[in-house]
Amino acid sequence: MIRLDISKALQEAALEETALQQRVAAAQAQLEEATCPGNDFLGWLHLPSSITPEFLGEVKACADVLRQHCDTVVVAGIGGSYLGARAVIEALGNSFAWLTNKGENPDILFAGNNIGEDYLYELTQYLKTRQFGVINISKSGTTTETALAFRLLKKQCEEQRGKEMARKVIVAVTDARKGAARTTADKEGYTSFIIPDNVGGRFSVLTPVGLLPIAVAGFDVEALVKGAADMERATAPEVPFAQNPSAVYAAARNVLYQQGKKIEILVNFQPKLHYMNEWWKQLYGESEGKDLKGIFPAAVDFSTDLHSMGQWIQEGERTIFETVVSVENPEHTLLFPHDEENLDGLNFLSGKRVDEVNKMAELGTRLAHVDGGVPNIRVCIDRLDAYNLGQLIYFFEKACGISGLILGVNPFNQPGVEAYKKNMFALLGKPGYEKETEAIKTRI
Ligand code: PA5
Repeated sequence: MIRLDISKALQEAALEETALQQRVAAAQAQLEEATCPGNDFLGWLHLPSSITPEFLGEVKACADVLRQHCDTVVVAGIGGSYLGARAVIEALGNSFAWLTNKGENPDILFAGNNIGEDYLYELTQYLKTRQFGVINISKSGTTTETALAFRLLKKQCEEQRGKEMARKVIVAVTDARKGAARTTADKEGYTSFIIPDNVGGRFSVLTPVGLLPIAVAGFDVEALVKGAADMERATAPEVPFAQNPSAVYAAARNVLYQQGKKIEILVNFQPKLHYMNEWWKQLYGESEGKDLKGIFPAAVDFSTDLHSMGQWIQEGERTIFETVVSVENPEHTLLFPHDEENLDGLNFLSGKRVDEVNKMAELGTRLAHVDGGVPNIRVCIDRLDAYNLGQLIYFFEKACGISGLILGVNPFNQPGVEAYKKNMFALLGKPGYEKETEAIKTRI
């Protein structure tokens, strides 16, 4: 089980305050009883325990078709329709997957998460030599970034592989009824999966949004879901506060926020966790940043970023706290070799594991940052496998729901993301935006 250590962030007493614990309990009750703001988006809450083996079988059967017919699968999606799958695939995969893949698993590429012309050009050029398939993921089915990429990919796939094969290797994950992705999937006869109405994008990694790409990549979706289901039990409302890691984390970060710590930095010491950082930033940023409130979620990869952001964290403005995701056991063993000449002076490390040095970097950083006035929360997991990632995902989701409610916002909407879209459509002259186009022209 995930272990949470807040001893270097707060005095335990700060969490023992009755009023705070009452607010946590009230938030938990509101989630369970579906009486909170955004209560039509609580489908994630008991999702892990409600996923059946039959459903996972369907996901895996579809993944097998893609695995059988494709050497490359492009996952088109953005935000919540992208980050969870990428986070898990990169955390579980070989760091050099594209070089070491001997064809046992398709390469997974991502598109529809930007509008970079060069990115899309280079992707389409690369795909010319690949037997590729596409998973088109969009809950609304109308997101511009994803729809643009999908239009390019669909055309290329049909031209390269023929209409019949394209129909087999293009899969849609979208709403049951509405949106262009649904219309296209139904018209073309693609296999499709439904994103439940009551699961918002950033909470959707344990729906086919995440499960399908993860299964196509060859990872164990049963173990992922099992980890999440175990964490669902470990964070249930009947679990006493002090033993409920999501409740304690949610409470701790709200206390720190009240103390002026406006920025939370998620830290890893494993490069494979880079996209977990990205997933977490979206989860907390979109859930809490509203009504002129909310901790700003930032993230760093250590020790890499100790050589860029380390100075700021050690001595910059004291408005930050850190949450470190610490992985206890690496998958592989690598020892530092002895060198007779010792020209680099590193013989004091001979015979030691690389991870031992990494762990001392982690501990040394923790102590230095605490000394520098940066409260430090630690989230420990045993290893980077599907089971532990499932736990970590649900731990953060549950804490996010509780934390947003303690903060007093609706953690399940994202009204702010519409503003840029409205301007973009006005600037591009989208039909239906004529008035906005005229208005925006006066500003430029
Ligand atoms: O969490 C969210 O709701 C968003 O990040 C969405 O996932 C993102 O905007 C993509 O939306 P859609 O899945 O409708 O294409």
